Amino acid sequence: MSRRDILEYPDPRLRLEASPVTVFDTGLSELVDDLLETLQATKAVALSAPQVDDARAVLVMNPDQGWAPHVYVNPEILSKSAWGLVEESCLSLPGVVGNVVRATELRVRAQDRDGQSFERDLSGLAAVCLQHEIDHLVGKLFVDRMTVFQKLRFHAFAGKRARRRSRAA
Ligand code: NI
Repeated sequence: MSRRDILEYPDPRLRLEASPVTVFDTGLSELVDDLLETLQATKAVALSAPQVDDARAVLVMNPDQGWAPHVYVNPEILSKSAWGLVEESCLSLPGVVGNVVRATELRVRAQDRDGQSFERDLSGLAAVCLQHEIDHLVGKLFVDRMTVFQKLRFHAFAGKRARRRSRAA
């Protein structure tokens, strides 16, 4: 197991669409273990494979207090309800916080690391995180879902940071 580096905005690899997992082998298990180790090390709530530069449709979450992580391979949302405005942040967008509209209740179908299918109902933080991570699997970032006003603020912030970086380089 090893901790992986996390890609940060505006890395174009964050915009790629992940491929469905068809092979459930030790390579997949290693990816899942690395995602879990990276999630634990960063103390984030959730993490997707594309964020560590792996184009497979895999995500992990630890939405509860304590360490009881969920693993979702090839996740697919079956139904959504109870929409609300929620505050989000992202390991790939350090320092950015914004409000987006998400369902706070949903049903998901996915596979585990052995390829076993399961369905689960999620609500609250777990439901919101799952939608955020599934967005990563299709190259979408939560800033894409913010209001126009928040997007303008974000681009001003990102531009300032990029200029700071290029001066330091
Ligand atoms: Ni994220």
